[in-house]
Amino acid sequence: MTIPYPTKQTATAFSEVSPPSGASRPRLSFLGTGYLGATYAICFAELGYEVLGFDVDEAKIAKLAGGQVPFHEPGLDELLRANLGAGRLRFTTSYQEVAEFADVHFICVGTPQRGDGMGADLTYVETSVTNLARHLTRRALIVGKSTVPVGTAEWVEQLVAKHTDPELAIEVAWSPEFLQEGFAVEDVLRPNRIVVGVKTDWANGMLYAAHKGVFDLAATEDREVPLVVTDFATAELVKVAANAFLATKISFINAMAEVCEVAGGDVTQLAKAIGYDPRIGNRFLQAGVGFGGGCLPKDIRAFQARAQELGAGEALRFLHEVDLVNLRRRGRVMQLAAELLGRRAGPAGPDLSGTRIAVLGAAFKPNSDDVRDSPSLAIAATLAKAGADVRVYDPQGMENARAAQPGLTYAATMTEAVTDAELVCVLTEWAEFRNADPQAMGDLVAQRLVIDGRNCLDASLWARAGWQYRGMGRPHPEA
Ligand code: UDX
Repeated sequence: MTIPYPTKQTATAFSEVSPPSGASRPRLSFLGTGYLGATYAICFAELGYEVLGFDVDEAKIAKLAGGQVPFHEPGLDELLRANLGAGRLRFTTSYQEVAEFADVHFICVGTPQRGDGMGADLTYVETSVTNLARHLTRRALIVGKSTVPVGTAEWVEQLVAKHTDPELAIEVAWSPEFLQEGFAVEDVLRPNRIVVGVKTDWANGMLYAAHKGVFDLAATEDREVPLVVTDFATAELVKVAANAFLATKISFINAMAEVCEVAGGDVTQLAKAIGYDPRIGNRFLQAGVGFGGGCLPKDIRAFQARAQELGAGEALRFLHEVDLVNLRRRGRVMQLAAELLGRRAGPAGPDLSGTRIAVLGAAFKPNSDDVRDSPSLAIAATLAKAGADVRVYDPQGMENARAAQPGLTYAATMTEAVTDAELVCVLTEWAEFRNADPQAMGDLVAQRLVIDGRNCLDASLWARAGWQYRGMGRPHPEA
């Protein structure tokens, strides 16, 4: 059922549930203050809720309590400090405190890819739910937000039943999130939809009350936030289906890039032309080195693994191709590097020893310091493995990149990275790189060779400045 808010009908249907704590609006806790949980905790405090953020990581909690966001997300620092100051937001490492405080507990812990396969590792979900449940002494709603295999909500319900007194009538619900890094504050405060998987009117009412701040903000801005109320399985599937669709869209355009490369077409023009069809749309059609990050790659793998377990493996077989197209784009950069540097590729890939390469970008996308499954960093490592002297620079992702790839050499600035380089690879489309002056950079490098892994540079401008330019799925520009 889809309920566009505000309507009189929904407002009255949900108004009767009162928070078990006795507070006028439900008090909220967010378990797991990584990217997802910290952002939600801070933004819901901004919406006026009393919020407690929990994590087992004491250093992270100390940072947050001290007013420092442990990752880069535009606008979040200011909101953190404002809401700590207003007294609506606190952080703790105590399950007991969380259990005593909140009416609605959001589970926001990580669900990484398992070490032994493609499925999701649910250890953190199990630990957080179990420990929370053991400390609960009054009625509460536990809401899963983490991206999980379908069937997890039912399993969480069983865990809760095992560890709580049935008289407390603790309930479970599922409400996926759709945050994009770099836009996460907006995505929480002004989401394009809210999805809840519930079994009872009480859970539905509590979740409505827990999101009323979002609906009220929308109403004051004359917007509507559609609310989709559904069952557990659908709510869980919505998230992975959305990410599978986005990954497929990116791999579709990257597959077209492969065809353009052999047929002599220009994928950027192609994307523009098909994107004018509103049924296709122009977003997520940017061909380049492919998708990375903490969500899309692991989610499409976990989705396939789960479908296979359930006997619907065939239905998602195409996601394997989506993954392969994505990974092939990284190889394409290696191929172009070898070609530009005049190195022949053998069965073990090209030998790039003795060459010096600048890699601009380590984060999986701009305006983020996240390097999880980052195509840029993976390519930098492969170039180094092929023998190149690689210098990596990223405006925000240096600390995380160093931790993930300690063997690589890092430059403190873009200038330092490109100085004396024989090849410049732009692999994350930061504004600093997009706006770089090809003339000025040309004076620093050893030779004017550039690979534009994100098709984010003005190809003819660079060609006119004497650069040999190679994009992804585009013909070489005339100088
Ligand atoms: C994604 C989903 O967008 C979000 O809804 C979900 O909640 C979590 O996963 P995020 O990981 O922040 O969000 O990044 P997103 O902006 O989706 O980009 C994912 C990757 O795809 C990046 O590496 C990006 O560079 C790449 N990408 C995106 C492309 O290569 N081409 C495009 O056209 C768009």
